[in-house]
Amino acid sequence: MKNKSNKIGRNALCPCGSGKKYKHCCRNSKKEISVKETYKQQYDIILKTPKQVEGIRKAGVLLMQIMAGVEKMIAPGLVTEEINTFVHEQTIRAGTIPAPLNYRGFPKSVCVSVNEVICHGIPGEKVLQDGDIVNVDITPVLNGYYADASKTFFVGTPGPDAKKIVSIAATSLKKGIQAVAPGATLGDVGHAIQSYAEGKGCSVVREFVGHGVGIDFHEQPQVLHFGSPGKGVVLVPGMVFTIEPMINLGKKELHVLPDKWTAVTNDGSLSAQFEQTILVTETGYESLTPYDL
Ligand code: MF3
Ligand code: CO
Ligand code: CO
Repeated sequence: MKNKSNKIGRNALCPCGSGKKYKHCCRNSKKEISVKETYKQQYDIILKTPKQVEGIRKAGVLLMQIMAGVEKMIAPGLVTEEINTFVHEQTIRAGTIPAPLNYRGFPKSVCVSVNEVICHGIPGEKVLQDGDIVNVDITPVLNGYYADASKTFFVGTPGPDAKKIVSIAATSLKKGIQAVAPGATLGDVGHAIQSYAEGKGCSVVREFVGHGVGIDFHEQPQVLHFGSPGKGVVLVPGMVFTIEPMINLGKKELHVLPDKWTAVTNDGSLSAQFEQTILVTETGYESLTPYDL
């Protein structure tokens, strides 16, 4: 049986990105091609089958169980290496592989990013202090399917800056997710995030972006956390990608430490991030790594 979601409506925006209606654009080509083929050819985007979505959803359930365990551990005095040990052991126990381990030479099983670290912090000797913020980014591979999500936690009692940046980063992701619907564009998602975060006087990191995910860790498309409404790839059901805005309290500029991974704000300001794996559905979206924002 042909999946309805693989057909493009005559009046829908053409997936080639021309901005024209499909019936006035690619539909005129001799053979009506499926959205799935078009997205693969045009953008290298893999639209997921229901079976693949189910696999990613299961990886997401496991991920959120591990994340809940991490949340319980977070307290002043915790060594970031202990988060790595916990995530690694829980992942292996579930018959799963931690995708970060040895990924392009990353030496640990989870990213742990404290305060001015934007992302890709390497767990190690660092001891969490009262008032810190810490992002934990987890990516298990279950039966070959990847789910990717992160949360930023308070360590002990947060100060006003920590409260502000964590709240704005969480709401930035929420705004991005709420912009997801079939027929909307990636530019709509980026714009929703950028206009909110900058409107609050914060800045959006440009160098790191969300990404297609599921069959591989990082697939097409790139999901920018800034942009213009109506621009970029048109969202269609079956797309699965992360949204993971990194929001700085100060300026957006960053540098990477000599370890080649740890990205930090140039001005030393706090940076926070939340990430979820999002499926575009027929009617809107579904988070495959759901938690409240
Ligand atoms: N989980 C990160 C992301 O959201 C990627 C980490 S790559 C690693 O895309 F190698 F640092 F793990
Ligand atoms: Co990601
Ligand atoms: Co991630």
